[in-house]
Amino acid sequence: MYILLIIILYLISGPVDCTDVIGFSGGSVIMISDIQWKSSHNKYICKMEQSVCNDIIRFHSPSIQVQYKRFILYGNTRGAFLVLIRKLKPQDAGTYRFGVEDQRNYTVNLKVRNDASYGVSKIINAYLGQNITMTCKYPGEYEKNIKYVDTLDDETNIKNIIKTQTTTENSRFSISDDRSAKVLSFNISDVKEADEVFYLFGVWNKVDAVGYYSYFTEIHLHVTGETFYF
Ligand SMILES: *[C@@H]1O[C@H](CO)[C@@H](O)[C@H](O)[C@H]1NC(C)=O
Ligand SMILES: *[C@@H]1O[C@H](CO)[C@@H](O)[C@H](O)[C@H]1NC(C)=O
Ligand SMILES: *[C@@H]1O[C@H](CO)[C@@H](O)[C@H](O)[C@H]1NC(C)=O
Repeated sequence: MYILLIIILYLISGPVDCTDVIGFSGGSVIMISDIQWKSSHNKYICKMEQSVCNDIIRFHSPSIQVQYKRFILYGNTRGAFLVLIRKLKPQDAGTYRFGVEDQRNYTVNLKVRNDASYGVSKIINAYLGQNITMTCKYPGEYEKNIKYVDTLDDETNIKNIIKTQTTTENSRFSISDDRSAKVLSFNISDVKEADEVFYLFGVWNKVDAVGYYSYFTEIHLHVTGETFYF
């Protein structure tokens, strides 16, 4: 009887596949699904309002990415379907469905936390060759999580730069996590022109089939050509 009940509960909840995704107002989220990006099919993301799912993006094109305002759908190098939502707003909270038409889709419930301490967007200026430190405060609930620094360039390519709890040698990048102060420090030595990108600070979560990065801070590094010798 008990097992039957579990099976029934599974049948009720199973196919819905609704995952909670937690983001921060002003921050970004990247959801990574196991759906295969298919250039021959329509890709979409829509937001549920009552029982209707209103399209935000629906497109058919061989292109590997499409952007509408703060929403970007793209396939990564492994052919997985990704959703990036930038500069989250409280009103973005809600239920979204995304996927490939006639193939698969997922439904996620996006929650947007509104806290002035996070979701901060900053610009930092640096000179070529300089050593710099970027710091950001993170939510206390993520004290034990591994934190990631990823970059986003103008073409919205995402790259993992570094994460905590790993040792890096012979790298221009280093990171430290002050768990008592809940502050992350990220260093770049010998700044190069190519370092002029957006740096996203966040954590990785995986619930069910959809994993996501939730970024609480974004820093844009602006590199100035002039080199100063001290
Ligand atoms: C989502 O996928 C389910 C099956 O997994 C399918 O029944 C449903 O029609 C799909 N919804 C959309 C909007 O594509
Ligand atoms: C980052 O640079 C600062 C200032 O030079 C230094 O005190 C700190 O130890 C460095 N942190 C890491 C993780 O390398
Ligand atoms: C920058 O950092 C590198 C490596 O940590 C160090 O060798 C170099 O002396 C530093 N340069 C300056 C200007 O502080």
